[in-house]
Amino acid sequence: MTNTSTRIRRCGVVLIEPREEAELDVAGLLTGTRAVRTRVKLVALAPHVGEEVEIDGAEAAALGRIGETDWLARETLAGIERGVVDSLLEKGLLIGDGDEHASMRARDETVRGVHWRPLSAVSHAFSRWHEAGVDEDVRITRHRTLTELIRESGEPPPHVTSRAAPEHRRALPPARPTSIDAILARRATCRNFDTTGTLDLARFGDVLKRVVGCQAEVEILPGTKALKKAHPSGGSLHPLEPYLVVQRVDGVAPGLYHYHVTEHALEPVATMAPDALRDFGMRCVAGQDFFADAHALLILAARFERTFWKYRNHPKAYRAIVLEAGHVSQNLYLSATELGLGAFVTAAINEVDIEEAFGLDALRESPLAVLGFGPRAQQKTMLEFDPLGEVWDGDALRAEDAPSR
Ligand SMILES: Cc1cc2nc3c(=O)[nH]c(=O)nc-3n(C[C@H](O)[C@H](O)[C@H](O)COP(=O)(O)O)c2cc1C
Repeated sequence: MTNTSTRIRRCGVVLIEPREEAELDVAGLLTGTRAVRTRVKLVALAPHVGEEVEIDGAEAAALGRIGETDWLARETLAGIERGVVDSLLEKGLLIGDGDEHASMRARDETVRGVHWRPLSAVSHAFSRWHEAGVDEDVRITRHRTLTELIRESGEPPPHVTSRAAPEHRRALPPARPTSIDAILARRATCRNFDTTGTLDLARFGDVLKRVVGCQAEVEILPGTKALKKAHPSGGSLHPLEPYLVVQRVDGVAPGLYHYHVTEHALEPVATMAPDALRDFGMRCVAGQDFFADAHALLILAARFERTFWKYRNHPKAYRAIVLEAGHVSQNLYLSATELGLGAFVTAAINEVDIEEAFGLDALRESPLAVLGFGPRAQQKTMLEFDPLGEVWDGDALRAEDAPSR
């Protein structure tokens, strides 16, 4: 690439990770001393680049000398070899002011403009999956049994902890039952959706309104509005945007939608043939077919710039958004359970595939979780955690939870 940039600066966010990797030691193999040797490489993690980039020591040193704010004339960079600067420009870790660096510069400016905290930006960008499947990941595949896990990793840390001797505990009065108890008791992650039927439009809409819709739209200052929703939100900014993969809902053409939170309406994003929609649903939940069977998948995508507008470059801001997704998820479980529907949440998702399908710029807006809901199947074929038999009676669905149609 010809380099017309005359001024440069470092990209806004980059972290360098020294990472050890194992490689085959052919010489060691031949002499019978060792089969594997390790080497430490330097990996630059810059969210705007979109992929990990290996750098050498000279490049790392140069990144440590060039700041991210001021634009510097190339000729002022005495002591940094031209080849090192060119290589870092090509890798996107230095930003040039020339035309050939315009697209990387624009992405870098997005990271700056969204006010990402560097650690959060790197953590989010590099924990996203593309076309991954849970079965390829030995830590989460369902084909690895608990017995195998314990054999390999030992017993898990204890399921209960105590910080005082029994005689020092202050017993509390028994909790008094209220109407929410029945719903809480019947909440169980659904892995058995009814693949033969549809979800009625009324319950579909009820759940969306309650879980991601708004209860009020308030003008808090002239021209500035805020939403009141059923769940709490850091700074009351409600950055979580609801997207849907509608598979089997009465009166709704299967496809991809955005839910308009104040209008309580679906906005079509794309229609898809049934097979393609099913494939996409499977990719959303990283190949967990029992979740892909849900009548509707609800994707929670964070509009980071909304929260970071207030909490600029703040160490807690990203965490607050992630926590919020948990609140929405629990509300979905409760609302679905109340209406006799099953629900699930998963973090094992292919963020990149979802961003591509919905046209999201990951530096600004990106999924954190995929939820799903719909009527349960009559028979349980996949494992659920229902120790009290509140949802399943033996292997059959309890009558009161049966699909209403
Ligand atoms: C953030 C989060 C991610 C989860 N991801 C998965 C998942 O990928 N696959 C799955 O089968 N269950 C997933 N679950 C559900 C848990 O396995 C489930 O909550 C747990 O087994 C307890 O069962 P219960 O929800 O029925 O009480 C997830 C739960 C949470 C909170």
